[in-house]
Amino acid sequence: MLLVLMYEIEFIKPDSFSSKELEGLVSALKIAGQKDVKTSSGKASTKGSGQRYKHLPSIEKTVSDLEDMGVRVYGFDETSSVPMDGTVMWENIAGYEHQKREIEDTVLLALQNPQIYDDIARGTRCKFETNRPRAVLFEGPPGTGKTSSARVIAKQAGVPLLYVPLEIIMSKYYGESERLLGSVFSLANNLPDGGIIFLDEVDSFAISRDSEMHEATRRILSVILRQIDGFEQDRRVVVIAATNRKEDLDPALISRFDSMICFGLPDQQSRAEIAAQYAKHLTKSELVQFSLATEEMAGRDIRDICMQAERHWASKFIRGQIPKDEKGEPPLPPIDEYVACAEQRRKSLPDRTRPAASRSGPPLKL
Ligand SMILES: Nc1ncnc2c1ncn2[C@@H]1O[C@H](COP(=O)(O)OP(=O)(O)OP(=O)(O)O)[C@@H](O)[C@H]1O
Ligand SMILES: [Mg+2]
Repeated sequence: MLLVLMYEIEFIKPDSFSSKELEGLVSALKIAGQKDVKTSSGKASTKGSGQRYKHLPSIEKTVSDLEDMGVRVYGFDETSSVPMDGTVMWENIAGYEHQKREIEDTVLLALQNPQIYDDIARGTRCKFETNRPRAVLFEGPPGTGKTSSARVIAKQAGVPLLYVPLEIIMSKYYGESERLLGSVFSLANNLPDGGIIFLDEVDSFAISRDSEMHEATRRILSVILRQIDGFEQDRRVVVIAATNRKEDLDPALISRFDSMICFGLPDQQSRAEIAAQYAKHLTKSELVQFSLATEEMAGRDIRDICMQAERHWASKFIRGQIPKDEKGEPPLPPIDEYVACAEQRRKSLPDRTRPAASRSGPPLKL
């Protein structure tokens, strides 16, 4: 049973939401806004503005309502120094230093120090207008760390992150998706310390060619555009949208992004660093060998290859094809196993003949 307040909400219901379900979701987002944290002992630790919301339903009730309607709620316990399941830190995202820095500069610093940004804007503008980012686009091929980075931001920003995978909330019934999105945005606007709305795989509704879907797409897009424009100046709300098909996005949406962070395929050095996350027993020169075998592959490919190598190795051990080590335990997979799995994986990869500009490097800016 979930006992922690979750700052990240994932909708897994592959269908439309009823009014009752929408109400449950709205109440969950309100709870997320108060920053109350339940510890594993079941004791509530109230932080900051949480006191203001003590009349809201209990977290247990909200979580169980969400689970009943097929919504999965998960996150982390801020009071614990031990990362909980699903928590990602910058250290777990190897390489991509430019992108991390850019995220810190454009999203995190503004969320953590809004006053400084506003003071500067007050000193420079005839009419005050916030210079803090409202919308940022994460762009790049699949498996390059866009969603993982959003999770780190949620952890570091100290504000709730509302995770909205758009293709799942898309409904065949007109009106429901827009209502749901509208609720998410307006609740984020009402959060006492602001929040991040993460629109994952935002391209998933922009590429549809079906005319009925096209109409739904248009309506959802117009909600997003209106909402981004309507953010209150004094609020700390940022939309982060992720896509691997930027070219399919609506130009009006693209023009709303204050910044665009490009997650390219990792270069060789980054591939070695990613491999070191998942095969820490390999030597430096073995990691280089592995990185050469994974050219044109994304972080997710490298992780999957490592898992595959471990599975192969385990099955060989169980079948008695590999002897125990001196401690009587299974030895760890050698580099050859990883390289063989990488070669196997390469056969199933789509053609990734891409221009060099799309490799991991300094992020592109609008
Ligand atoms: N730089 C990296 N370092 C370590 N692991 C990585 C890195 N990039 C990706 N991974 C691994 O790949 C997995 C998938 O990454 P993630 O979901 O963040 O990719 P994405 O860019 O959001 O992909 P998609 O476009 O398909 O949604 C991560 O959970 C992580 O295990
Ligand atoms: Mg993703």
